[in-house]
Amino acid sequence: MIGFPFFTYRASTLSAESVSLDKIAREFGTPCYVYSQAALDKAYREFDAAFSDRDHLLCYAVKANPNIAILDLFAKLGSGFDIVSGGELQRVLKVGGDPKKIVFSGVGKNSAEIQAALSVNILCFNVESEAELLVLNQIAKGMNKIAPVSIRVNPDVDAKTHPYIATGLKENKFGVPFNEAEKLYLSGKELSNIRMTGLDFHIGSQLTDLSPFSEASEKVIGLLDRLESKKIKIDHLDFGGGLGIRYSKENPPSAQNYITALCAGLENRTHRILIEPGRSLVGNAGVLLTRVEYLKHTPHRNFAIVDAAMNDLLRPALYNAYHEILPVIINEQKAKSYQIVGPVCETGDFLGYDRKISLSQGDLLAVMSAGAYGMSMSSNYNSRPRAPEVMVDYDSIHLIRKRESIDELFANEIILP
Ligand code: LLP
Repeated sequence: MIGFPFFTYRASTLSAESVSLDKIAREFGTPCYVYSQAALDKAYREFDAAFSDRDHLLCYAVKANPNIAILDLFAKLGSGFDIVSGGELQRVLKVGGDPKKIVFSGVGKNSAEIQAALSVNILCFNVESEAELLVLNQIAKGMNKIAPVSIRVNPDVDAKTHPYIATGLKENKFGVPFNEAEKLYLSGKELSNIRMTGLDFHIGSQLTDLSPFSEASEKVIGLLDRLESKKIKIDHLDFGGGLGIRYSKENPPSAQNYITALCAGLENRTHRILIEPGRSLVGNAGVLLTRVEYLKHTPHRNFAIVDAAMNDLLRPALYNAYHEILPVIINEQKAKSYQIVGPVCETGDFLGYDRKISLSQGDLLAVMSAGAYGMSMSSNYNSRPRAPEVMVDYDSIHLIRKRESIDELFANEIILP
């Protein structure tokens, strides 16, 4: 079995730090997301320490898990933030996050989002096209501001990950083609309300091999030198996010080895280094608790129908992603192979296939590694209220998001007169 250091069995019951998940299920019901504060804290500190003396800024990728309690924890640890929408910007500002530590990524920033980010003077816009650069210049001019810009280049490297989350190939929608970047920097330099200040890439997510990172970093450092030889002063390099975590048998590099690989080609260059980790900070700090509603044995399959579904955790349905599923209370009876499925009316609604486990109706299960892209990708499909979120801090339990109510589901809908 895979080890999850902050979710361990104590006297046959799976616990988050010192709190049994059984207790949390009794108090808050299921499905329910549970996070470990110590796991979040440790993951952040490991990244931060990996840079040692190098000038750096960690910009947590808010999309991985945007709960304001989590943003607040990271802000207090000194984190910056990578945002991709006006909504994420407001979340960071809500917890008192420093705008001077915010980078704004994304291929389709709209005018309202750009204005909001300019008005609080964020650290940098990670620009993904010439058209965006021109719009940014125009809006900044209207507001009498200078927009700090980093061009997100597409280094055309194979991230060797699921095709839906690979972003650094030339056929992907992301970034500026590598060979066109230099030209864009030169034209950006001439724009009245743009200051070209950074250079960045993000090649994909859940990367468990260092070589694509090294390849992209090497290419981009080469570009940096060419830009500087043309008198374009670059203050920071942003290496994006993407470090993978262990869901099953993956063996991802440590934060230290990852940072070392990214920075290897920098040698004596003293540019400030930014990274935008999401999953690697929160992924293994969370689980989704769910209860078995029914067992159903057919001549072909055994199904465990649980109360969590694809609307709570979309990753299995969307990417065929594997999440370990553990019993909260160990049951010594003979294990059977189960299809662990949700109540949603789609065959694609599953959490795990062919899991060998001993189960009874009413048992609690923990879907592991659900801290990243779990709650953040949840929906109300099948008119299912969103699950609550709970943070455990050693032996204390804090509700950080209430379960959605049925009334909230249609509170914004209007019947025709
Ligand atoms: N920076 C940018 C510009 C990004 O697009 C992303 C993720 C990150 C940073 C953070 O990447 P991370 O460190 O979390 O890999 N929903 C998918 C993952 C989508 C990632 C999108 N971009 C999943 O559940 O696997």
